[in-house]
Amino acid sequence: MTQNGGSISDSGDLETRLAEFRRQAGEVSDRPGWERLRLEWLGRKKGVVRQLLSRVGEVPAEKRRDYGRLVNELKQTVEARLEDLDGELATQERAAERLAATVDVTLPGRLPRLGSTHPVNLVVREIAEIFSPLGYSVAEGPEVEDDFHNFEALNFPVDHPARDEQDTFFLADGRLLRTHTSPVQIRTMLERREPPIRVLCPGRVYRNDNDLRHSPVFHQVEALAVDRGITLGDLKGTLETFIKRLFSPDTGVRFRPSYFPFTEPSAEVDITCPFCDGEGCKVCSGTGWMEILGSGMVNPRVLAGCGIDPKVYSGFAFGLGVDRVAMIRYGIPNIRLLFESDERLLRQVTGR
Ligand code: PHE
Repeated sequence: MTQNGGSISDSGDLETRLAEFRRQAGEVSDRPGWERLRLEWLGRKKGVVRQLLSRVGEVPAEKRRDYGRLVNELKQTVEARLEDLDGELATQERAAERLAATVDVTLPGRLPRLGSTHPVNLVVREIAEIFSPLGYSVAEGPEVEDDFHNFEALNFPVDHPARDEQDTFFLADGRLLRTHTSPVQIRTMLERREPPIRVLCPGRVYRNDNDLRHSPVFHQVEALAVDRGITLGDLKGTLETFIKRLFSPDTGVRFRPSYFPFTEPSAEVDITCPFCDGEGCKVCSGTGWMEILGSGMVNPRVLAGCGIDPKVYSGFAFGLGVDRVAMIRYGIPNIRLLFESDERLLRQVTGR
């Protein structure tokens, strides 16, 4: 909105210009507005002041001095006003910055969210606490296993039908995702050689299974004790003590004869159904019992294969399904809930 047309020869015109400048200056409320105003009036090429000065030649000679003085005064007024405005804007800007940076110290603090232990790990930890005073240490093995540790050394010959029950996922190089924690028995015996051995082996295992109670990935805790003179009585006593500590002193324990290639004799162990106290309900299919682990006396062939003399030493082993225990303990109806990483499950279990 430059006003460089029309007569510029008298002081009245310059007054009008100045009034116009003041009006515009009064409307400036921010930095871009200030910058536009400065350009329009003091711009080096097209600014109003520059144009007024460049037209001094059009002014009649006798008025030139006055004209020059008046334009100069106008220039000084414009400069002074722009400088004032600059100061006012700077003050406003600093105030806005301070406001934006204000911290309300009266607001309640934000607590960092703490993680919590997964129900499966809670159960593993509890089991380790029960066995640690009995002299068991914790051992771990790889989840990607070879056929030797997962099957062969555990007395599953190639083509033995017991392998069918443990169908799993195979890698191209012939290795597989371990179907149980029992290979850690083999690794422990091969490493330590000399009994006494007492280990607890928790870990993830895999099978080609998928329904409400079976997941392709689940957890076991394996226990192995090898020493002189270990008997089936030791196995029963250890298991009964363990189960009553883990569940409740009233929990009933039942041993059912079973078969595993790596134990002889073998037994599966049931507990009275914790949901109906053995009365029979939907969860236990009306039987009053729930299977929670497999066990037995370590097969002498397995001991011998690991370089331990079965005439001198004997041992027992068992493998417990941890997820089953976590489901019972925390009332989780579907095993898959344990693997979905839904934080609500964790919060429900741990109260966090
Ligand atoms: N490894 C067996 C399974 O997964 C359980 C087991 C462990 C049985 C130790 C006997 C001794 O079914």
